[in-house]
Amino acid sequence: MKPCGEDDADAARCSWDVRCSGLARATHNPIRAVVENLHLEPNPGKQLIALSLGDPTVFGNLQPPGELLEAVQSSLESLSYNGYTAGRGSQEAREAVAKYSSTPGSTVDPNDVVLCSGCSGALDICITGVADPGQNILVPRPGFSIYRTLAEGCGIAVRSYDLKPADGWEADLVQMEQQIDKNTALLVVTNPSNPCGSVYSRRHLMDILEVARRNYLPVLADEIYEHMVFPGKEFISMGSLSQDVPILVCSGLAKRFLVPGWRIGWIIIHDRNGILQKENNALVAYDILKRVEGLYPVMPEGAMYMMVGIDMIDFPFEDELEFLQQLMREESVFCLPGQCFDYPNYMRLVITVPEDLLKEACHRIADFCARHHKTICTLPT
Ligand SMILES: Cc1ncc(COP(=O)(O)O)c(C=O)c1O
Repeated sequence: MKPCGEDDADAARCSWDVRCSGLARATHNPIRAVVENLHLEPNPGKQLIALSLGDPTVFGNLQPPGELLEAVQSSLESLSYNGYTAGRGSQEAREAVAKYSSTPGSTVDPNDVVLCSGCSGALDICITGVADPGQNILVPRPGFSIYRTLAEGCGIAVRSYDLKPADGWEADLVQMEQQIDKNTALLVVTNPSNPCGSVYSRRHLMDILEVARRNYLPVLADEIYEHMVFPGKEFISMGSLSQDVPILVCSGLAKRFLVPGWRIGWIIIHDRNGILQKENNALVAYDILKRVEGLYPVMPEGAMYMMVGIDMIDFPFEDELEFLQQLMREESVFCLPGQCFDYPNYMRLVITVPEDLLKEACHRIADFCARHHKTICTLPT
């Protein structure tokens, strides 16, 4: 070991001083921050029902398609794909994504596809590839927290534009536009939405594109829930609509193909001038919860979630965190707090769990609310 010298250069290298980098210090995951500080103790007398994790494989009721499993199995057995491949992904894989993502009016060129480690990896590349430290990006509120986690770590500021629950969670376009300035690098749109389950109409997507066009702002369209829409609803990719606004579409296999652990995601660069049982599940949950005093569920149109407003004035809890901790303590039901999505006084339910469990969980939530509602308390006896 080197002896400590007098001068600064020696002093700097004469003992262990391993620090956390600026990037690590600036990186926050709001979901972890909120959930890890909750004291969650389920009621030992009741089976725990977690409506919190956006992983459709947890309960085993939804399985990936056989074709997908067979294709991967035969690729592995061929021993042809064990080596390094092109940085943007193999030509065959990019051709397959391009074919899957093309629509009659909008053909995707395999050269515009970049394979990534999950949709998260795609988002990371897009955000850090377009925005510099000191610039800002616009993200939806309520919204998925990864955009903030990725951006803030790199010194990119995050500004939120509001989604309006009474208007099917459409974006407040006026407020969105007011936040754009010369340092705004990217507009993030999540469609279908986590946590809202909303699916935007062509008209609303065109309106968003018009804001982007007027302000010369590229769009990052997070479409990981593409095609997970209920009957009668249509998913339209933003990439297929734009004639001039550059759109980076991020998607992957995780949700629709029920393989989040495979970490297959992609970016499609547009730069030119269901799981149907979930609708039943959503209706089941919505029908139970809409009758509960103090709760305001917003019926989703796709994805895997439902946002439920909690009128905190009706309950003897400080905020939704305390509400959810007590719900866990008494009913062993866990939902993510709205604060995880920058939207307090809401909870987010995952609706891909088996229908009977979802029903049971919603009834428990209803019982809990009836017990604790300030004016209609039916219990305790
Ligand atoms: C809106 C949204 N984007 C991206 C992701 C991450 O997808 P992946 O698991 O492919 O990284 C999720 C995961 O829940 C999500 O909800």
